[in-house]
Amino acid sequence: MLVLGIDTSCDDTSAGVVTGDLAILSNVVSSQDEVHTKFGGVVPELASRKHLENIIPIVDSALVKAGVALKEIDIIAVTKGPGLVGSLVAGISAAKAISLALQIPLLGVNHLEGHIASSLLTKNPPPPKFPFVALVVSGGHTSLYLVKKDGEGEGGTIEYVLKGQTLDDAAGEAFDKVAKLLNLGYPGGRLIEKAAALAHDAGWEGVTFPRAYLKKGSFDFSFSGVKTSVRNYIKASEKDGDLDDELKGRIAQGFQEAVVEVLAKKSISLVLTEGVDTLVVCGGVAANGRLREVIFEGAVEHDIRVVIPKRELCTDNGAMIGAVGVLRANEARLDNLSMNAISRLKI
Ligand SMILES: Nc1ncnc2c1ncn2[C@@H]1O[C@H](COP(=O)(O)OP(=O)(O)OP(=O)(O)O)[C@@H](O)[C@H]1O
Ligand SMILES: [Mg+2]
Repeated sequence: MLVLGIDTSCDDTSAGVVTGDLAILSNVVSSQDEVHTKFGGVVPELASRKHLENIIPIVDSALVKAGVALKEIDIIAVTKGPGLVGSLVAGISAAKAISLALQIPLLGVNHLEGHIASSLLTKNPPPPKFPFVALVVSGGHTSLYLVKKDGEGEGGTIEYVLKGQTLDDAAGEAFDKVAKLLNLGYPGGRLIEKAAALAHDAGWEGVTFPRAYLKKGSFDFSFSGVKTSVRNYIKASEKDGDLDDELKGRIAQGFQEAVVEVLAKKSISLVLTEGVDTLVVCGGVAANGRLREVIFEGAVEHDIRVVIPKRELCTDNGAMIGAVGVLRANEARLDNLSMNAISRLKI
């Protein structure tokens, strides 16, 4: 089986080809960072226009890299939500057109299920076995799921049980907002990580910011408090003049530590509470090296297996949507042309 996966949920245009046994034949991503950088965030109107320009060349490139002709594709899997409606529509329209023209069954995919399925595409470490706990930590979401599979083999149904989620900002959103406050640029996550690493290597101590654990036993998150603390700290510091690189680095490091610590502790605690042995961490913020480090350290202590996909599978990509296409192959339909974008789709 060959599945073409397409994702245009936010600001990256992506397509990938995966096989029925979840091998990646290609995974092509066209970033729009250049378009949105000068605005300090994603401009939805510009994002959808850019997707329209990019989508066909990106699909072509994914097919060429995979060495596969369009007519050999068995299923087209495309993100139908959650995301920016104008962006989603660009991918959905292209997928519908190809499906109709070549009579290839179509499947609408939940983007968050795609992020979780990215863990099934890893070879080293091997993919997780069900059941497992998944932390989805991205630009729009920070959620913990217990992921179970009923029945053995390919026919089993996967169930996602939401155990906790952010009550305000997503972790990625907080990274982006703090990067903006520090004038580090866009996209913020990577730049905060870089500034924090520089500070660490220089021996500059991170500023201490509060951690929000909420009530005892809660698996929910809150990141607006730490963001406000950073804002207040910056305002107070600016009274003495512009922030220098050292202070920016110390703030970035302290903020990153506060976010990473809560994400790691709550995820590990849920694994122990549910009595499973594997933790999957996925979504754009899972690309963060310090988060990976802290989660691995905590997991070793409790003998928990951790699966974090490589960085290019953590951020948005088409292969992860293709992986859901493989898992849900029996749901792909030729008459799925009335499928619409759903901006606030839940798993
Ligand atoms: N190295 C990093 N450290 C921290 N955050 C990062 C890093 N790399 C990317 N991010 C963050 O990940 C987010 C992007 O992730 P992703 O592409 O999965 O989000 P999205 O698709 O916009 O949102 P969602 O998946 O919730 O719909 C951004 O907020 C970005 O700042
Ligand atoms: Mg995403």
